[in-house]
Amino acid sequence: MVFGTLFKKKAPASVADPFEITTRTQLLNHLASRGGYRRYLEIGVRNPKDNFEHVQVAVKEGVDPQARCTFQMPSDDLFRQLDATPGRAPYDLVFIDGLHIADQVERDVESSLRHLSDGGCIVLHDCNPLTEAAQIETYIPGAHWNGTVWKAWAKLRATRPDLVMWMIDIDEGCGVIRRGSQTCFSPWSARDYDAVTYDYLVANRRELLNVVSVAEFLALDARAGQSRSAAQPIAR
Ligand SMILES: C[S@@+](CC[C@H](N)C(=O)[O-])C[C@H]1O[C@@H](n2cnc3c(N)ncnc32)[C@H](O)[C@@H]1O
Repeated sequence: MVFGTLFKKKAPASVADPFEITTRTQLLNHLASRGGYRRYLEIGVRNPKDNFEHVQVAVKEGVDPQARCTFQMPSDDLFRQLDATPGRAPYDLVFIDGLHIADQVERDVESSLRHLSDGGCIVLHDCNPLTEAAQIETYIPGAHWNGTVWKAWAKLRATRPDLVMWMIDIDEGCGVIRRGSQTCFSPWSARDYDAVTYDYLVANRRELLNVVSVAEFLALDARAGQSRSAAQPIAR
């Protein structure tokens, strides 16, 4: 009995040590704990055992046309329903990991922002492809695939001075978006996804995506939280 109590270690609700945040799930739990979040939406659930079940938030909802979850439908359909239901409580934390195609990701971000609480945040998975093959539009079964999520992220980095955006260098690239302000990275027009190529990403990765380490993110996010002002991209 004593041994059982001694050795049954409960997983910490939050992790402030940068070395303990290496996965999307740990990042989501850190953000939820730090923000005191109560309402979570996961766009694209697939197998709930991989992430959804491990997120420690009181109210959790998932949307996926092909998984057993709260809303078995595409995210666009859910947001149409939510738009038609005024007065519904907003989400504090939205994890976007559905269809990995840039224009769908862009819509998922815009829709999530409409249904996000004031101090809430959005996390995007698969923002940082490390090979050209991983960032093609078409999913090839069995292949490592990030899709064109990074192009939606890059467009927001170029066009949305009203957002704070950090791309944390873990688990395929986990992008964190809050309301606030940023200095946009906009040498390209950002009107056309085809104009931004993988070579362009390779040449400008850090500034285009605003890539930060976990330690940098924790420091910047704490500072932004304290001052309620915008976090700027790190000077390098
Ligand atoms: C990469 S998996 C999600 C993995 C999960 N979030 C995790 O962390 O383990 C992507 C999922 O998105 C779903 N999906 C595809 N199109 C979608 C859409 N339009 N809306 C919501 N989910 C979608 C797929 O059915 C698939 O289950």
